[in-house]
Amino acid sequence: MCGIVGYLGGGNATGILLEGLQRLEYRGYDSAGLATSHRGSLQVAKRVGRVKKLAGAVSGQTSRAKLGICHTRWATHGGVTEENAHPHLSCDGKIALVHNGVIENYLPIKKFLQSAGFTFSSQTDTEILSNLIAYHYRKEPEGGETSRLFESVRKSLRQVEGTYGIAVICADCPSEIIGARNGSPLILGVGRNEILLASDVAGLVSRTAKVVYLKDGEIVHVREGDFSISTLDAEAIRPVIDEVDWDVSESALGHYTHYMLKEIFDQPEALENAMRGRFARDGSTAKFGGLNVTPQELRQIDRIMFCGCGTAWHACLSLEFLIEKYARIPVEVEYASEFRYRNAPLDKNTLFMVVSQSGETIDTLAALRESKRKGYTSLAITNVVGSTIARESDGGIYQHAGPEIGVASTKAFTSQLLLGAMLALYLGRLRDMSFNDGVEFVEGLKTAPEKAGAILRHCNQIKDIALKYARKNDFLFLGRLSMFPIALEGALKLKEISYIHAEGYPAAEMKHGPIALVSADCPTLCFATEKDTLSKVISNMQEVKARNGEVIAVRSDSCRLPEGLADDEIVIPDAHGAIMPLLAAIPMQLLSYYIAVERGCDVDKPRNLAKSVTVE
Ligand code: M6R
Repeated sequence: MCGIVGYLGGGNATGILLEGLQRLEYRGYDSAGLATSHRGSLQVAKRVGRVKKLAGAVSGQTSRAKLGICHTRWATHGGVTEENAHPHLSCDGKIALVHNGVIENYLPIKKFLQSAGFTFSSQTDTEILSNLIAYHYRKEPEGGETSRLFESVRKSLRQVEGTYGIAVICADCPSEIIGARNGSPLILGVGRNEILLASDVAGLVSRTAKVVYLKDGEIVHVREGDFSISTLDAEAIRPVIDEVDWDVSESALGHYTHYMLKEIFDQPEALENAMRGRFARDGSTAKFGGLNVTPQELRQIDRIMFCGCGTAWHACLSLEFLIEKYARIPVEVEYASEFRYRNAPLDKNTLFMVVSQSGETIDTLAALRESKRKGYTSLAITNVVGSTIARESDGGIYQHAGPEIGVASTKAFTSQLLLGAMLALYLGRLRDMSFNDGVEFVEGLKTAPEKAGAILRHCNQIKDIALKYARKNDFLFLGRLSMFPIALEGALKLKEISYIHAEGYPAAEMKHGPIALVSADCPTLCFATEKDTLSKVISNMQEVKARNGEVIAVRSDSCRLPEGLADDEIVIPDAHGAIMPLLAAIPMQLLSYYIAVERGCDVDKPRNLAKSVTVE
């Protein structure tokens, strides 16, 4: 949700800012803008559309600026226009500000500023903040102990309610940037003779691996070659400089046409990385270095509550099946956005866990914080090292899936499912699972990368099926038991990147309503991967066929279907039940991808979406 980069140093600010912004574009891509400061004046450029357009607009200009800020937007307040694009200038043109988040009390502040003679040219909440800073800046005495700009930002932030990650510059201050965060991420990068600010590591990692993760309520004053951090109450904070382990080449597209396709094909490696070093020597269970909960404590829990959003919520549902089946611990799953406001009763022996690829999703973070406030052990499965959720949880599991840039989550999902299976194994072995079952389970898990690779090798067959159905406007996805979350995920993948209406249901629920949708125009995708329920799934397929519906079956090798029942079949390898859901998810990803490409959709940046949702 909106990407911010700020730069102060010896390099060419415009080029460095645009490069960082390009890497953050997955956070939002309605419009982009840049402000640099040189010799006492601010140069501002904004464009509706992608960063590429902004780069084109400034490409002819020779800028000697060493200081600047930039932004890529995901609209919240006000339409997608140049006026609403960031940076927002104060009406006197002195202050430029980029913002990620929502200022909730912007209306009374706007009224106050209007009565003081300030004018506004956008519909955004952000513009009140640049003007409020300008208001305080005018009143701030020159030559005071701290910088005028810093003090005016600090005073303004004490007045606003809501969420923000901001970077601010001032025409009068050629060597200062102020950054601050509250509820929206902001990271400081400490380079050689340069300092950067960015919404996430991707925006600055090509310049430096040394970062400081700002915390909520902190404000950073960046000056040439130096910075200091304090709270809004002026309490000094000692910065902790972390070294990030991020390989820039991992986020390169290589020979792939889209990040989504690259990330689908990254899956064998991502699965391998999720398992690396995480099996016990005796080969019967998993081990996790960062859970920070002892086996004794884990034996005491009698319920697990999982929370997440979107695809991560589907992963939570899949974890429910895995953990209940293999560890026999009751599991509940909630949308994080509901949990945070629902005041759900939790038993004293509940373990709370969130799942989040980015580690920055605001609802998931809020759910984690609420659980912690109530005193529950609160863990996280997340992909992004150093993300807010990773830092605020009591412990957890890193996915090590590598950067996921495509807005549609793919490798992060299957890696979450694999880690869920490993967690189920670990918890199961702490309880009733036998040594032999544990060994068989471990052996099964280890086959996941190779079996995922085998499915990917058949991508052309899946592509052909995709092309056949690409013009349909409705789809049903049906799955029983562990395939139900995969049906939901298949439907979500299809709708988010190809804008086709799709619904996922437990297969037997079809008869209770969705069957009304079945027609020659609405194909049904059915999962037939479990022997125990195969005859039931076959009945569901027959019910679809009886109503002139087309059936695409995703079946495991040994789950054979009556001749001619399915119009198309995608066959995936037989495997241990614990990895079947993640294997079945892969053809869904490919199917959605090829359908979306065929329909001419912007696969990596689907309309209205952003990679990490850091506003409510
Ligand atoms: O970063 P998170 O896993 O917390 O993100 C949660 C959802 O926003 C995310 O999974 C979203 O649904 C994706 N667009 C799905 O492809």
